[in-house]
Amino acid sequence: MPCVKTRASAPGKIILFGEHAVVSGTPAIGSAVGLRARVTVEDLPGRLEIALRDMGLTVTGFSVGPNGEVISLGSSEEAARAARYVAGVVRELDARDIRVIVESEIPVASGLGSSAAIVVAALAAVSSHMGLDLSVNQVAAQAHGIEKMVQQGLGSPMDTALSAFGGYQMVCGGASPLELPAIEMVVGCTSRPHDTRSEVARVQELRSAYPEVIGPIFQAVGEITRRAIPCIRDGSLMELGTLMNMNQGLLESIGAGTRELSELIYAARGAGGALGAKLTGAGGGGCMIALPEPGRQRDVLIALAQSRGSGFPVKTGAEGLIVETGIR
Ligand code: PMV
Repeated sequence: MPCVKTRASAPGKIILFGEHAVVSGTPAIGSAVGLRARVTVEDLPGRLEIALRDMGLTVTGFSVGPNGEVISLGSSEEAARAARYVAGVVRELDARDIRVIVESEIPVASGLGSSAAIVVAALAAVSSHMGLDLSVNQVAAQAHGIEKMVQQGLGSPMDTALSAFGGYQMVCGGASPLELPAIEMVVGCTSRPHDTRSEVARVQELRSAYPEVIGPIFQAVGEITRRAIPCIRDGSLMELGTLMNMNQGLLESIGAGTRELSELIYAARGAGGALGAKLTGAGGGGCMIALPEPGRQRDVLIALAQSRGSGFPVKTGAEGLIVETGIR
């Protein structure tokens, strides 16, 4: 009898405005983008296996520790990290007798929501394969819990909400959807991965040390985020670009920038003719985003390549979780 598989895919994301300040309660806006993580589940009687296709690793017969950590896993840090998230899902659902195959187009540790997309897709695929009928709301909530547990961090619900629901989300405490039109943007990646947890901890320490300085900076970031919403809705791209540049200045002031990020940001704004550019996510490495003039995505991509960055075009508001059952 042919093996019946279940597959789920979930998108990565960019943060348009408000990273870091959101951890202290001001609003942030993010959008799902077209890069996706795909998780396929098939029966494997008597065994439990996680295969990370594009990362060249198969984990068999592993055991999962009390915090969801995969025990006796010798491989690259990237693959080990992805496996930890899947193991967190397997443990949460008490799943067994399955093979979980993970494929992802989303660069890891870059602020593009790779771990959230893997958790959301794995949770949906494994639960659906087990015959559990989780709603998208339940997937988003449980995935956020698993991501936080594995990262042992503060983690806002931004990434998991965007991976589950797609579109745009505003996070202010909880996540809520925003109905806004798609925009063409460009993502540029530095070669340096970043660690969200340590970046968030560093910024929060700065806030404790200088509350009278950082408080108003975070408030200004929140105002920028609020002002950005009508600009996206009305297609006021010039103003949106200006707001991105202001947000970038404030991110620099809290130490989230790096020389490599700045090089890409200035290349996009200069030779690339972008209307605005800023880092996206926690900073300290990872990626930046640029808003090209309409029809000028290519100019920005060329400018990024000339500055030794790897860039790709994205459209905001991408589709969220997709589940396919009964695949033969
Ligand atoms: O994981 P990243 O790089 O997308 O950054 C998350 C954004 C922060 O605001 C820095 C942290 C958070 O949980 O919102």
